[in-house]
Amino acid sequence: MSEQSLSGRKALVTGGAQGIGASIAAALAAAGAAVMIGDIQEDAGRQTAATLREHGGKADFVRLDVTDDAQWAAAVAHTITALGGFDLLINNAGIEVTSLIVDLDADGLRRMCDVNIIGTGLGMKHAFRAMRPDGSAGQGGTVVNIASVAATIAFPAIAGYSGTKSAVDRMTRVAAMEAGKLGYGVRVNCLYPGLIPTEMGLQLANDIVANGLAADVPAAVDAVVAQTPLGRLAEVSDVADAVVFLSSPQARFITGAGLAVDGGMGM
Ligand SMILES: NC(=O)c1ccc[n+]([C@@H]2O[C@H](COP(=O)([O-])OP(=O)(O)OC[C@H]3O[C@@H](n4cnc5c(N)ncnc54)[C@H](O)[C@@H]3O)[C@@H](O)[C@H]2O)c1
Repeated sequence: MSEQSLSGRKALVTGGAQGIGASIAAALAAAGAAVMIGDIQEDAGRQTAATLREHGGKADFVRLDVTDDAQWAAAVAHTITALGGFDLLINNAGIEVTSLIVDLDADGLRRMCDVNIIGTGLGMKHAFRAMRPDGSAGQGGTVVNIASVAATIAFPAIAGYSGTKSAVDRMTRVAAMEAGKLGYGVRVNCLYPGLIPTEMGLQLANDIVANGLAADVPAAVDAVVAQTPLGRLAEVSDVADAVVFLSSPQARFITGAGLAVDGGMGM
């Protein structure tokens, strides 16, 4: 793939203030895209955008709570105005609330449904409305949804999270079908990343220990690595590079796909 495979493209990355989203934003900018970071963390999001600009990228920040339909409409409109278009959406914002099934808490489940399912669904709604031929951006585009290896394997203490990520997986297929059949000119794919030691990943490792499923955090990590044929945890750049590929013309005939970025853990 060329170094500037996304030159001229305009991207919105949700949950881009930190972790995987910040790495995705950096990779898209490095590939030539202008990037809008959407997040509920305003200071961190602005700082991440400023860092990208310091490295020569075109980047900005918009406050976006992905659970809110009106904020989506405003964030997409702002992206089009600020960047001069909108043709790449990365639905990355997500939360994980660890729980054994015997301890499931309705509020925790609802919060995951809100961010992971409703947030992703609303993102695709507003992206399609903007990107389709009669839309406010009107140039077609791509959507990449960040699901999880949790949608492909049974891992203890993450039933609720796995359910929401399986929903992201299914919604990706239906969205790709609609976008293709209805001539929107938008490809839709999802990724299943393996465990990455971001804030979320480290919290999960601690929760696994707290739930009595590993003796300590190193043991929890070792168990995941032992389940992974390529023999390590995932890194944020593994996911970011896959996003760049799926967003690029090199992936022009790929839609409705779920790509594992998990070192083989979920095969
Ligand atoms: N870390 C992992 O091991 C792992 C593995 C597979 C998939 N994922 C998925 O990757 C994505 C990113 O995870 P991460 O590890 O970088 O997590 P993280 O907790 O480090 O970052 C998540 C980001 O999303 C933002 N966010 C949360 N709720 C939001 C909302 N309502 N609206 C807008 N932004 C919101 C947060 O402010 C934060 O910046 C998530 O969807 C997660 O489920 C993570």
